[in-house]
Amino acid sequence: MVVKNRMVMAPMNTNFSNENGAVTEQMISYFEQRAKNEVGLIVVEAASVVESLINHAVQPLMTHDKFVPGWWELVDRLHGYDAKVSIELAYYGSEAEIGELRSASDISHYSRPVRPLTVDEIHEIENRFVDAAIRAKTAGFDAITLHAAHGYGLAQFLTPLYNKRTDEYGGSLENRMQMLTEIIYKCRQALGKNYPIMVRYSINEYCEGGRDLEEAVAIAKLLEAAGVNAIDLSSGIPASGLFNVRPSGLANEEGFLSTWSKQIKAAVSIPVICAGMLRDPDMMNKHIEDGCMDLVALGRVLLADEAFCLKAVRGENNRIRRCLGCQECFATLNKGMSVRCTVNPKLGRDHMFKDSAGSHTTPMRILVVGTGPSGLSAALSLQNAGHQVVLADKADKLGGTMLAAAIPPGKQSISELINWYANELQIAGVELRLSCEFNEQLVQMVQSDRIVFATGAKYSRIIAGSDRYDVLTATEALLHPERVGNRVVIIGGGASGAEIAEYFCDEAVKVAFDGVDSAKDRKLLYHTRKRKDAKPRQVNIIEMQDRICADMYEESAEVLRIKLHENGVKVYTTTGVQRIEENKVWLKNLQSGEEFSITVDTVILAAGLQPNHISPHFCNDNIVYYLADCQQPGKIRDAIYAGTMMAKRIK
Ligand SMILES: Cc1cc2nc3c(=O)[nH]c(=O)nc-3n(C[C@H](O)[C@H](O)[C@H](O)COP(=O)(O)OP(=O)(O)OC[C@H]3O[C@@H](n4cnc5c(N)ncnc54)[C@H](O)[C@@H]3O)c2cc1C
Ligand SMILES: Cc1cc2nc3c(=O)[nH]c(=O)nc-3n(C[C@H](O)[C@H](O)[C@H](O)COP(=O)(O)O)c2cc1C
Ligand code: SF4
Repeated sequence: MVVKNRMVMAPMNTNFSNENGAVTEQMISYFEQRAKNEVGLIVVEAASVVESLINHAVQPLMTHDKFVPGWWELVDRLHGYDAKVSIELAYYGSEAEIGELRSASDISHYSRPVRPLTVDEIHEIENRFVDAAIRAKTAGFDAITLHAAHGYGLAQFLTPLYNKRTDEYGGSLENRMQMLTEIIYKCRQALGKNYPIMVRYSINEYCEGGRDLEEAVAIAKLLEAAGVNAIDLSSGIPASGLFNVRPSGLANEEGFLSTWSKQIKAAVSIPVICAGMLRDPDMMNKHIEDGCMDLVALGRVLLADEAFCLKAVRGENNRIRRCLGCQECFATLNKGMSVRCTVNPKLGRDHMFKDSAGSHTTPMRILVVGTGPSGLSAALSLQNAGHQVVLADKADKLGGTMLAAAIPPGKQSISELINWYANELQIAGVELRLSCEFNEQLVQMVQSDRIVFATGAKYSRIIAGSDRYDVLTATEALLHPERVGNRVVIIGGGASGAEIAEYFCDEAVKVAFDGVDSAKDRKLLYHTRKRKDAKPRQVNIIEMQDRICADMYEESAEVLRIKLHENGVKVYTTTGVQRIEENKVWLKNLQSGEEFSITVDTVILAAGLQPNHISPHFCNDNIVYYLADCQQPGKIRDAIYAGTMMAKRIK
């Protein structure tokens, strides 16, 4: 197999197959978008080889001949763009969401019971892999990838974390690898000597007692000896999944597996593919030049921008829409929905946006008010659809609330998103008017046919005393930290309140996360370092619910809660705010009814958003639209989607 470049699309489950596990048009066109944009090799998401044991309710399957025509259609379409296509074949073992759990031993991070497989059952599963591999070859796949990563079935045999067997499939590394090597040999016999077989495994399991570098190298050598054609490296097990698909709150080192993969590459002569936060084409080239890997495996960057590889090939790095590391994709997938992306509203909805450009009947002059994510995306989509857009904001910078959202630690990629919109709007030719408040004069001047309000939300000040001058909104506090005193009370412990707390405690104690302590009932492991030059404040969070960060993806929330705890941020849950006085906030424990006060210099409002609705009374004959937070406060994903949809709504 010859791949036209060194960029590989990493396997990512999408929930785009149908409820029977068959390929859908939605799935094909999702892959087609990436294939037509210069991905060299696409590794199609994990397809189960055992129908009764699956990880997602709509898991793709390779378990019956009836699935082959669908797979063939997919592969054939991708071949049209000169992409090579592999498929990841998986057995989920004790970490399957659905089905009777059967694995090497009785270990799982789920509470459901696990039954160790008998030797006959092991052979049966091996045969299921071979059947699936033959179907993949019949369907036209250029290669297969055996999924021995992330703590799923084959990985459970491979690692002492899960494998406690005392027979020939447990104990020494060779024994733990026996099931995998038997599958490789059987597949080789069935597929012929030239058919590429690749194996994906976790180079680092980020779990105490899990794989170390020495064993990772030994596995690579044994795989090469077993006739594997390429090694595909990833990281983690389900208990340490956040060290594979890394949220922005973790210290996000670009290409964090490179130093390990370099050792693997030095030990084998077959190609080494490696994933892990590879975000920037220049850095990718450097990892390849430095001998860390032969090919780069790209995950979320390809969800965020289907044309990532084309832009990389053309050297148009400034046009790449960057992934925020916000984990919305993983969160939607794990809730059983089809995968969604905050910055890419078209992901999985290609059919809806096929006809956006030039689809209107009459080009119109459109005034968009507000340059938050909804206004930016509305302006861009409308201009690209052939309308003439004037984009106005009373602020002197683009970005709306995203300007503040980008300030807390780990959130800087939101600034990259603002810069991306600034560049794209300029290329598209949108007329920009900053420091320009919406008023009658503006309406007269622009002479538009339609007005789109994207004016965001504002914090309601219904708590007694919340209209005091020293009570700041979340946005004001982040944009003007000089106005924030030493003793701070943050009202609202959702994502934005908790992130503000992290910002104002100034990471006086830096927390670095190392992994987890076990594959079962796991705890996050971390170490801390005091930062001498920090200027921390005393920070308190007041939250009515029984926990903070309830609106975040749980793994990201866990990381943030630990950071706040280590920095001494005081959290009052199940607590309401009674009133705000000078230097004092009165609180009430909602369970006991006890009232008490905290002495404070600055109060920050991080809850109670209300739409900033602008009355259309001087909009002449314009039809007006209200988007995103100025209609219903939400998140950046909702705002970008609402804005992008304007090109479909205004015809
Ligand atoms: C502190 C904070 C952190 C957040 N972090 C995240 C996050 O990490 N992830 C996430 O998904 N969501 C986050 N959110 C929510 C997210 O920022 C909002 O949902 C999103 O910005 C809403 O977009 P929008 O376009 O509707 O409005 P906004 O982004 O609020 O933009 C509104 C714009 O309208 C302009 N405007 C208002 N009135 C007028 C007027 N009369 N004339 C001219 N211009 C006007 C404003 O100046 C502003 O630029 C955060 C919110 C806050 C407050
Ligand atoms: C939504 C989603 C689904 C994923 N599904 C799979 C999968 O089916 N098989 C697999 O081996 N890895 C899966 N992964 C892991 C990715 O292949 C990749 O290793 C990981 O996201 C790290 O790369 P990145 O930092 O470029 O995103 C998934 C990741 C995401 C974000
Ligand atoms: S949802 Fe967030 S983390 Fe996932 S690809 Fe999109 S921007 Fe990246």
